[in-house]
Amino acid sequence: MSAPRILATGRCIPARVVTNEELSEAVDTSDEWVFSRTGIHQRHFCAGETGLELAAKAARQAMDRAGVTAADIGVCLVGTFTPDHASPSTACLLQRELGLEEDTICFDLNAACAGFLYGLKTAHALLFDAPRPCAIVVGAEVISRVMDHTDRDTCVLFGDGAGAVALRRDESRSWHTVFGSRGDRSSIRVQGPGPVPSAIHMDGKAVFRFAVEVVERSIRQLLEAEGICSVNDLDLVVCHQANARIIDHAAKKLKAREGLFYKNMDRYGNTSAASIPIALDELVETGTLRPGMRLLTVGFGGGLTWAGALLRW
Ligand code: UT7
Repeated sequence: MSAPRILATGRCIPARVVTNEELSEAVDTSDEWVFSRTGIHQRHFCAGETGLELAAKAARQAMDRAGVTAADIGVCLVGTFTPDHASPSTACLLQRELGLEEDTICFDLNAACAGFLYGLKTAHALLFDAPRPCAIVVGAEVISRVMDHTDRDTCVLFGDGAGAVALRRDESRSWHTVFGSRGDRSSIRVQGPGPVPSAIHMDGKAVFRFAVEVVERSIRQLLEAEGICSVNDLDLVVCHQANARIIDHAAKKLKAREGLFYKNMDRYGNTSAASIPIALDELVETGTLRPGMRLLTVGFGGGLTWAGALLRW
């Protein structure tokens, strides 16, 4: 079975930084509460930028770094639950921004915070029968647009941003993946589109319980599929950046060495489908994630969906 070779990454984070202190002027919260419960100190909110603009900057950066052009791209997918429009899709508009060919397969995909890994799996599968050998997969969210900014239960958790990868199908590689969903409509629900104003409703404790269960289980399944006894035989683990306590819980259960599980939610908050590709881009940029390394990544979110992949970088 072939696997994707990720050629390069990119990211785009809106300029406006919103600290916990700033939020505490609008709702009854504090940096101490938010940081101790989530690991988040600040996030970025769009101030006029669209999801398409974020996606296009991240995608262009990934394509430039990979040295691929529109003549190489056969698939263009965007994972998002906060597209600029219900239709046309962000991916379709991105096609034009990037100057991609007319026969490129372009669509948005909503698997909430697991959306990037769903996109990676889907793009890779589509490359078997695509007009050209490379794909661009983006996670892009403008969550500040669908939040109730007066609801302290949710408004402190999320941030905006986009991350992207350029990839090529590679017959010489293999990977292991896990996917699932639960048909759950109550744990996380985003109202709209329609006459009702958009807002995120979340049963935080239920999602927390789901997340710790599914992260640990997915990692164990992927290790077993690869024939690895310990998580410490991996080079890096990148989980969806919803809450530092979820990641710490999984790391502890799996007896992981210090620093194996990457965390950056302190600076970005939970950027849903964008969180994993943003983290990958940071790790590549700092030289922490290098070719040949064994990487395990897990996403989870509304739906309730989850996805995991174990691959060689
Ligand atoms: O990406 C999608 C996946 N989403 C997630 O993974 C989210 C998973 N869940 C969580 O991360 C946590 O459940 C939260 C961070 C959302 C909440 O943490 P918690 O420890 O479960 O807190 P809680 O909801 O039980 O609230 C505890 C208290 C409550 O007050 P009382 O009832 O004990 O008096 C809340 O009203 O904290 C209060 N509270 C706050 N206080 C200050 C809730 N939000 C805030 C806030 N600031 N922002």
